[in-house]
Amino acid sequence: MFFKGDKEELAIDAERVPKHIAIIMDGNGRWAKKRGLSRKMGHKAGADTLEKISRCAQDLGVKHLTVYAFSTENWKRSEEEVSAIMDLLRKYLDEHIKKCKKDNFRVNMIGDPSRLDRDIQEKINTLTSLTKDNTGLYLHIALNYGGRDEIERMVRKVAAMAAAGDMAAEDIDDKIISENLDTAGIPDPELLIRTSGELRISNFLLWQLAYTEFVFSDKLWPDYNENDLKEAVYNYQNRDRRFGGRK
Ligand code: IPE
Ligand code: IPE
Ligand code: MG
Repeated sequence: MFFKGDKEELAIDAERVPKHIAIIMDGNGRWAKKRGLSRKMGHKAGADTLEKISRCAQDLGVKHLTVYAFSTENWKRSEEEVSAIMDLLRKYLDEHIKKCKKDNFRVNMIGDPSRLDRDIQEKINTLTSLTKDNTGLYLHIALNYGGRDEIERMVRKVAAMAAAGDMAAEDIDDKIISENLDTAGIPDPELLIRTSGELRISNFLLWQLAYTEFVFSDKLWPDYNENDLKEAVYNYQNRDRRFGGRK
């Protein structure tokens, strides 16, 4: 089965759609600036794009979508911008709580929730439990997420288990590490997309991206559309993934 995009040659093989796509949704601020709008309006437009792209990913048959919404470094921004983002997040969570059965997503959060306001933590918990029996896309939202912070927290957990005698230091392996990260139980992403022309990972999924294929787009996140996602999947399907081996 093939999906045809706008371009005739864009034939996606439905059998080889990545199970897990990760996205660094970047460029909201520049999008707003170009239009003489506030950065908040850029983030608002970015939230609308996330709606479109998550539905499109689900329709393509992607199982897991992990989106970078707020990093551990984003606290460095002005108080005004951080609180605008947090208010948009509240709105996003409330809307999804209302329509939780309709779009069928299973929402999950990765990152350290402890620095988020209490009411936001509660909304996340509500949405997670309301959607846990849905059957569609697993939507993992990275909030106060940093790859190094996640690894730090994992090492502390694993070291505590070893210190308590629950396992020996020699038993620590790839599996134990993966099982103690925020992404426990989630397969590694096959495809990472970053928008806005920046060519870096900015502390996203450092462990999980070991063999992920990267696709960069010059488009600013609010301009990113369904066809861009299909193009990224098409691009991914034409990569030669060797995992260090030889054909
Ligand atoms: C991404 O857009 C959203 C967050 C980091 C919260 P930016 O706000 O980083 O947009 P630019 O990079 O300044 O254009
Ligand atoms: C990465 O974007 C974080 C998110 C998209 C949430 P940034 O805009 O924060 O990254 P840098 O500062 O350009 O590396
Ligand atoms: Mg940015």
